[in-house]
Amino acid sequence: MTDTYQKLQACYQSFSEKIHFLPAVALVLGSGLGDFADSIQMEATLDYREIENFPVSTVSGHRGRFVFGYIGGTPVVIMQGRVHYYEGYSMEDVVLPIRLMRLMGAETLILTNAAGGIGAGFHAGDFMLITDQISSFVPSPLIGPNMDELGTRFPDMTHIYDADLCRIARETAASLGITLQEGVYLQMSGPAYESPAEVRMCRAVGADAVGMSTACEAVAARHMGMRICGISCISNLASGLTDKPLSHEEVKEASDRMAPRFAALLTGMVSRIGGQ
Ligand code: HPA
Repeated sequence: MTDTYQKLQACYQSFSEKIHFLPAVALVLGSGLGDFADSIQMEATLDYREIENFPVSTVSGHRGRFVFGYIGGTPVVIMQGRVHYYEGYSMEDVVLPIRLMRLMGAETLILTNAAGGIGAGFHAGDFMLITDQISSFVPSPLIGPNMDELGTRFPDMTHIYDADLCRIARETAASLGITLQEGVYLQMSGPAYESPAEVRMCRAVGADAVGMSTACEAVAARHMGMRICGISCISNLASGLTDKPLSHEEVKEASDRMAPRFAALLTGMVSRIGGQ
């Protein structure tokens, strides 16, 4: 048994001693989007600090707890705040919470983030359905001895983002009158925002949005066979596409402005997923 697997089991043990709840859907809320968790029918919460050895975020705008409850009757676990590779955690630690939510019982994962827009016709304030991703600029979370208990050594990544979940996201957005852009998400390590030349590189390799999370989590989740949906909140146009310098405050403010539409979109999506 690997150290990573033992640590995961210890976290699961800690969870199961404190919480008795079986989630069907797991959600990860990105920068500035965490307030959504406060609006659901909440049954229990678990601070990351209460789980021994659990990675805790150091970034402002990221709360650190799991919220358990119901959205439109569907049992969910929500990560209110995630950890990032740039905080200095190993990739194994960065994806540990995703693996833990799978062990809790969640088979479906909704990943959200704030991201810089690159795609033609994208505007700050848009939502983007992630249809595929590029994770090649950060290390794989699967490096190291394979944990056969979780998944296969060489997992297929042809359909990282589930076609049915994408359809549900499109239908929900359309029913709410929310414009949903679509495209490829590229993960950079951060924490610096990209240079304009890097953004041109991202565009040249096929990215429509760039951020500092999500793709590694999706790889770990696919390794475990989860069905994944990804939504980026385009908080800004990426560096060099406008004259404005980028700041974390601006990203958080933009996410705040998107929060009501984001909450409606997520609520509608999860309700529909539960009804499947
Ligand atoms: N780049 C990387 N990450 C981000 C951005 C960006 O422009 N905006 C929000 N997160």
